Parts: sequence; C-alpha cells; structure tokens
Amino acid sequence: MAAMVTTDEPNIPDEVDIHDPAFVADPFSAFEHLRRKCPVARSNKYGGFWLLSRYDDVRSAAINWRDYTSSVPGVTAIPVITPRTEPQLPIEIDPPRHSRYRALVNPVFAPQRIAAITPRVKMLARSLFEKMIAAGKAEAVAEFCVPVAITSLAAFTDVPLQDSDKWVGWITSMFNVRDPSAGATASRELNTYIETLIAARRAKPTGDFVSMLIAAEIDGERLDDIQIRSFMTVVFGAGFETTADALSVMLLWLAEHPEALDRLASEPELVPTAVEEFLRYSSPIEIFGRNASHDLCLHGRDIRRGDIVALGFGAANRDPSVFDAPDEMRLDRSPNKHLTFGAGPHLCAGAGVARMEMAVTLETLIETGARLAPGSEQELRWKTRGDRRGLARLPLTIDTRKTNRR
Ligand code: HEM
Repeated sequence: MAAMVTTDEPNIPDEVDIHDPAFVADPFSAFEHLRRKCPVARSNKYGGFWLLSRYDDVRSAAINWRDYTSSVPGVTAIPVITPRTEPQLPIEIDPPRHSRYRALVNPVFAPQRIAAITPRVKMLARSLFEKMIAAGKAEAVAEFCVPVAITSLAAFTDVPLQDSDKWVGWITSMFNVRDPSAGATASRELNTYIETLIAARRAKPTGDFVSMLIAAEIDGERLDDIQIRSFMTVVFGAGFETTADALSVMLLWLAEHPEALDRLASEPELVPTAVEEFLRYSSPIEIFGRNASHDLCLHGRDIRRGDIVALGFGAANRDPSVFDAPDEMRLDRSPNKHLTFGAGPHLCAGAGVARMEMAVTLETLIETGARLAPGSEQELRWKTRGDRRGLARLPLTIDTRKTNRR
C-alpha cells in the first residue's frame, strides 16, 4: 500500500473519507483543497483508494481504459459492494469487448424511444405538481422526484411499474454500502425477476426493451440471457436513483433561488443549458471507481497495479481551470463540458433519459407557474453516501402565480 498523503496545509485531511458526514455535507470544500494541493489523494479507508480531483486527470482517466481499467467486477463502488466474480455489463468491461457490447445495446437508447415516453412523463409531472400546489407543501423526494424517476425508467424499459416496489427495494439493498449480506440476497432476487422477464419475451416477443435486446444482432453475434440480465441490472442500478437525485437537487436550488424560475419562464429557450448546468453543479455520481492496469505515476504519486483509482466527477465539475466561477449556478452557462455522465467508452448510455426528465420538470414548473420555497430546514436531509449526491428528504412549500397557463 502506498503511504498516506501528508500536505503542507493543516486542513487537508490525510485520509480522505468520502462517506464521512462532514465530507458528505460539504464535498466541495474538500474537493477544492484536493484539486489545488493534492490532486492524487490517497486514502486507506474502505480497503484503500486514490482520488483524482482535477478535471483533466479525471477526464483522461475515464477515457484511458488501458491504464485505468473498468474490467474488475465490483470496482465501480467504494467500498466494493456485494463482491462478485462476474462483471456487470457493459460497465465492468473494457474495449474492444465493451465496444461490441455497447453497439448491441445502443439501439434501445435511440432518441425516438425517449421521445415516445416523454408525453407520459410530462403528464405525470404535471399531475404531481398540481397535487403539490393544491396541498401547498410537499416532501418533494417522495412526492415528485422518486415517482418521476421510477415511472420514467419503467416506461423506458417496459418493466411493469406495479413491480417497482420490488425492484427499487432490491436495487436499494444492493447499493447499501453498510449491509453487504442484504445486498447479496437482493441481487439473487433481482436476477430471478429479470430472468423471468427474459423468458417471457423469448417465448413471446413484443418489440419492447427486452425483446429488442434479445433480437439485437451484429455480425451474427447476439446477447445471451446472462448478458441481458447483467445489462438490465446495470440499467436498474444506474437509471432511477441518479435521476431522482438530480431532480431533488435541482428543485432545492430553484426553491432557494425563486428568481431563476421567473427567468426561465421569460426565457424558456434556456431550459437545455439550465439542465446541463444543474447536472454540472451537482453530480449524482460524484465519485466512480477504476483499477490501475499496471504501475503508474501521476503528479509524482506512485499508483500500483491493482490499486483502486476513484474518478472525482463532482470535483472535476467544479474545477476553476475549466469552469469560470465554478461554484455559481449559471442557467445560461455555455460551453459546459461537465463530466456528470462520465467520458469515453463508458459515457452514460441513459443520459438522454435523464436530460428529458429534467427538462420536462423545468417546463412543467414554468407551465404551472409553480413557485417553490424551502420548507422546514430541520427536515431537509441529504443522502449519506459521499460517492453519490442527492436529497433523502426535501420539504418544500409550493404555490402558483397563475392558473391554466401553458
Ligand atoms: C442524472 C442521471 C444519471 C447520471 C448522473 C448517470 C451517470 C453515469 C456515469 C457517470 C456513467 C459512466 C460510468 C463510468 O465511467 O464507468 C454512467 C453509465 C451508464 N449509465 Fe448512467 N447516469 C444517469 C442516468 C442513467 C439512466 C436514466 C440510465 C438508463 C435508462 C443510465 C444507464 C447507464 C448505463 C447502461 C451505463 C453504462 C455505460 C457503459 O458502461 O458503457 N444512466 N452513467
């Protein structure tokens, strides 16, 4: 194991603990120090890992799969949850195998498939906001962000929405860093559930998400059931908590900055840049793992083959060498080459779905004329994992300036 970091600045932690409540409460101050003073930080917590925090380093490592491999089952989370021997596809394999695999699954993420579910998401967002406006207040995570995220994913993957309590429960257990044994049981149950879905579509294809995966073919190559199951697990794992988290932080910021919704209402053409800026400002996946493929040296630090190297997407997104006034949320920031969806071969496959949910939310807020304000401070709660960022509870008060404006 490499030596611990020592620094010439007393307030830089020498053991970065990404799940420490103080880090979780304010990762940005820690990132700022690390970027300046210790861009390749070492921590012996959670089995030991390196943390990259500068934009150029994070982006280069995300792209450079030869030096920083994804091809180690379980490497993406810190600590590794539910140790496995089988990789989850496509997130835990490298090119060239990864490229073939992505080519097979990419058709299910076609923009037309996202466009097809957008009206449904829009209708739901509108009815949820109307309900919240009628009540005058809401706990927005449970009453808006989670239902929008889950319904969108169910609609997009054609997985029954009525089973969402089950699959949300399994995924939540699988990603609970504090209870690996519950995660293993949940993982088995989710596998069985997905296998049943695949068997049903093999027997009777419907043209839906799973049927498309079964039918996908490139140069005579097709996905087998284990590959499809693995891919569905990644889609479930990546596809609803991330978007709920993005929506929650966006709603909190809008509640704290009421003038922003007025501006978006008068300049609705800013919605796409605002979505990108919300994504940059708060990365739902703040830190994501890789493995050193061989001994490396970066900024004078010796990284050994097999060491976990964590990519600080959230830290990179606040790097002042790339983003002017990075701690400011600018609705019209452009260009905005944030790393919230990663970079390189593993660039998020579902980014279009996430962007759609965020744009629909902003458009619906504008159309309903909703005015948000923070609810009781005491009840607002952030999630407790430092490699993710999102709210566990978001109390808001909500009313409207107008009725029936579209
Ligand atoms: C705001 C929401 C989201 C964020 C922040 C996010 C972030 C990410 C990131 C950072 C990666 C790359 C990981 C790496 O570098 O190894 C990734 C990969 C992936 N994401 Fe997302 N994601 C989001 C939403 C979604 C949704 C809605 C879906 C599915 C509908 C999805 C499906 C995937 C898949 C399948 C991969 C694996 C890509 C590969 O390994 O080739 N994501 N996501």
